[in-house]
Amino acid sequence: MSSVIGRRVRWVAALAWVGLGCASSPPPLPLNAAVGRRGMVATVNPLATDAGVAALARGGNAVDAAVAAAVTLGVVDGQNSGLGGGCFILIRCADGSIFAIDGREMAPAAASRDMFLRGGKADPELSQTGALAVGVPGSVAAYERALRVAGRGTLAEALNPAADIAERGFAINRSFALRLAATSGKIAKFPESARILLHADGTPLREGETLIQPELAQTYRAIAKGGSDYFYKGPFAKAVGEWMRANGGLVTVDDFAAYQLKMRKPIVTTYRGYTVIGFPPPSSGGAHVAQILNILENFDVGKLPETTRVHVTAEAMKLAFADRAHFLGDPDFVPVPTGLTDKAYAKELASRISLTSTLAVPTHGSPPGDEAFGDYSTGKHTTHVAAADSEGNWVAITTTVNTSFGSKVIVPGTGVILNDQMDDFSAKPGAPNAFKLVGNENNAIAPRKRPLSSMSPTIVLDARGKPFMTVGAAGGPTIITQVALVMSNEIDLHDALPAALRRPRYHHQWSPDQLRIEDSFSRETLDGLRALGHPLEVIRPVGATQAIMRLPDGSLLGVSEPRLQGKAAGR
Ligand code: DON
Repeated sequence: MSSVIGRRVRWVAALAWVGLGCASSPPPLPLNAAVGRRGMVATVNPLATDAGVAALARGGNAVDAAVAAAVTLGVVDGQNSGLGGGCFILIRCADGSIFAIDGREMAPAAASRDMFLRGGKADPELSQTGALAVGVPGSVAAYERALRVAGRGTLAEALNPAADIAERGFAINRSFALRLAATSGKIAKFPESARILLHADGTPLREGETLIQPELAQTYRAIAKGGSDYFYKGPFAKAVGEWMRANGGLVTVDDFAAYQLKMRKPIVTTYRGYTVIGFPPPSSGGAHVAQILNILENFDVGKLPETTRVHVTAEAMKLAFADRAHFLGDPDFVPVPTGLTDKAYAKELASRISLTSTLAVPTHGSPPGDEAFGDYSTGKHTTHVAAADSEGNWVAITTTVNTSFGSKVIVPGTGVILNDQMDDFSAKPGAPNAFKLVGNENNAIAPRKRPLSSMSPTIVLDARGKPFMTVGAAGGPTIITQVALVMSNEIDLHDALPAALRRPRYHHQWSPDQLRIEDSFSRETLDGLRALGHPLEVIRPVGATQAIMRLPDGSLLGVSEPRLQGKAAGR
């Protein structure tokens, strides 16, 4: 660990560099932030961050650290992510090469367009809970590939310490306990899930109680030994396939064997001289973070009064999400226009934004070109891990089982919570999903298709092409707006990184036509936005962003979401 004095010195440098001036007594480094010289990890859970730092201490690089943290989250933060879910991994290697690893779930071969309709209406219970909600998980394949292409250690080295925690048990934190309490009724429907996560009398484990997961530990150790084949072609796939057959599910052993990891071509845009590298479809994150920033580039955001700035940014979000609903889907199945991130298109959208009133956006825009994104290789709950090292490896992993505890299904003997990512498809054009997102045919269900995602792992380079920041978030569609806001706060408002994450958030996703805005904004700003015509929903703190930034002296400043009890730590 770096010394306290060293941390302070670098913190002053950070403040000066980001434009706050050389304060005579700098604010202490907040508890959710840390500075390190050799490497840095930020996650939503201290045990996972510590696992990442331990990987660095073993001689691993940022990729080893990020994967170790991610698989540990699957043990200690299973409501958000785990081996039963999917992920997107963005890596910028020390030599400048970039990997975008798509470990998104795939629909089973027997899935069909209308599988969640009953009497012509979408039934969210079917797509969010139980056997039909589950897509074939991709995280195991993605972690294995990330380590193979850019890590130094093995998957076993990442998994075994996490298995130790699963075996030993850990005290569940407040957010785990709250989510468990909120979902215990649904969890109780699945005997194995109930046995592991609830007391014998059906009440949920409480904050501070110990959760021991021997079956999960066994699965981790078996994958450590047998690699991803244990999961996709071996006993895990067999156990899930048999359970699905007996319980009305569609996922089969063949679906597991047919899981395809995809290496994608990232979406790259620029924002005021910075290069922003984002994740392409089937994430909508890269496209719409880029689109929102491209629209904002047409305004002098840093000089706008707060109400006007929030208004303009919310309008940019609204326009981007209107396009998301219409155009986005799995690029292996549907063409997604590359023009969504076109600067001229953004300029045209920006010209529609009025500074004095809200814009009616009845439908999507018309980006140039409707060809598929050209050369892809061949073609409520989530988590983000940020990691970086002094060699110049930068990592952003966003991973999820979708809503809290995914489908709520744990197949006996596996310990693994299975996702409900099928709910991210559009069950029917215009029918909202768990995040009130709507989509159309492009995101309709089809066999072996990937559901559209908002996960936005992002890496930013400075004007010299050097890594500047890695950032990502959890929170459904607010992921996109959280990431865009951090970038704008950082680049337009010259916030220090902790302040960029702390600054009050807001979110507009076109449908519903509502500006969701944190209650920490001043009354004056809220009234001003209402006067401009925004239908406001004033909300409690939202989001979970993790970020790391390179300081001028080369050290790394990590910040974990200030609204939660995560941790950034380094060496
Ligand atoms: O991929 C997606 O966009 C969603 N499944 C993410 C879910 C999520 O972020 C839930 N978090 N609060």
